[in-house]
Amino acid sequence: MSEGQSRRRVGIVGYGHLGQYLVRRLQEDGPQHGLELAFVWNRDANKLKGTVPAELQLGKLTKFLERCADIIVEVAHPCIAQTHGESFLKAADFMVGSPTALADAETELKLRKVAQQSGHTLYIPSGALWGGQDIQRMDERGMLQALTVTMVKHPNSFRLGGHLGELAQHARQERTVLYNGPVRGLCPLAPNNVNTMAAACLAAPSLGFDGVQGHLVADPDLPDYHVVEVEATGPGGFSVHTRRKNPAACGAVTGTATFAAFWSSLLVCHGHGGRVYLC
Ligand SMILES: NC(=O)c1ccc[n+]([C@@H]2O[C@H](COP(=O)([O-])OP(=O)(O)OC[C@H]3O[C@@H](n4cnc5c(N)ncnc54)[C@H](O)[C@@H]3O)[C@@H](O)[C@H]2O)c1
Repeated sequence: MSEGQSRRRVGIVGYGHLGQYLVRRLQEDGPQHGLELAFVWNRDANKLKGTVPAELQLGKLTKFLERCADIIVEVAHPCIAQTHGESFLKAADFMVGSPTALADAETELKLRKVAQQSGHTLYIPSGALWGGQDIQRMDERGMLQALTVTMVKHPNSFRLGGHLGELAQHARQERTVLYNGPVRGLCPLAPNNVNTMAAACLAAPSLGFDGVQGHLVADPDLPDYHVVEVEATGPGGFSVHTRRKNPAACGAVTGTATFAAFWSSLLVCHGHGGRVYLC
C-alpha cells in the first residue's frame, strides 16, 4: 500500500469457521494488504467475547453503517444476503459467502440492481470452483453453451434434511446420487453444501440458476476429501473438464483449501464497480 492511501475497512458477518479464520487473517496480515477490521457481528454475541476486541464487536447488525466499512463479508447464512444484502450494497462492496442465497430470483434481481445503481460490487468468492474466471469470460463473450458442476462428498459431510437427508443416510452403504438437475432447485434443499454450484451460476448469468446443471453425490469411499468437477461446453466442439480434490477433515462441510481461497478472494475485492464479480 502506498503512503497516504487509506486502509479498506472490512466488516465480518458471522463468526463460525470461516468468520474466525478471516478475522484472524485480518488481524495478523490485514495491514500489509491495506485491510483493517471494521467490525465483527455474530448472531450469538457471546461467541465474540474474549476473542474479538470489544470496540470491534457489533451488537446490532442494523447498526453496521456506524462502522464505515468499505466491504462487508457474509460468512453466516444465506438469509443474511436476503435480508440485509440490499442495505449492505447501498453503503459498501459486499462479498456474499453463501451465494446459494441468490437462487431466490427476487434476491438476485434486487442485489444486481442495487449494485448497478450504487456502483458497489457484489463479490462472489470462487470457493472450490476451479476455472470460474474462465467461465465468466466465456459467458461474457456469449460462448458458453452448457455447464455442469458435480460435487462428491462423504455422507457425513452433508447437512441435509428431508428427502436428501434420507438419501444421504442410505449413502453410508454405497455411492448415491442425491440430486441431478438445475441448480435452482437444489440450493434451497442443500444451502450449505452447494455454494460452489451457486458461484458457477453467478459466473455464468446467460445460463444462470436454471441453466447450470448440478449433480450432487454422496460417496462413503471419500473419507478425507471433497471432489468438484466442472464440465463446460462451447461452440464447435469446445469442451473443458476439470476435477478438483480438496482435502477435508472427516465430516467437515468446508474443505481445508476453501479457507485460504476465501482470503485470496477478499484480497481481490477492490475496484470492480457496480456489478457482480467472481473473485
Ligand atoms: N462459498 C463457498 O464456497 C462456501 C464454502 C464454505 C462455507 N460457505 C458458507 O459460508 C457460511 C459460513 O460457513 P462456516 O463454515 O463458517 O459455517 P459455521 O457453521 O462454522 O458458522 C456459521 C456462523 O453463522 C451463524 N449463523 C448460523 N445461522 C445463522 C442465521 N440464520 N442467521 C445469522 N447467523 C447464523 C452461526 O452462529 C455461526 O457463527 C455458510 O452459509 C456456508 O454455507 C460457503
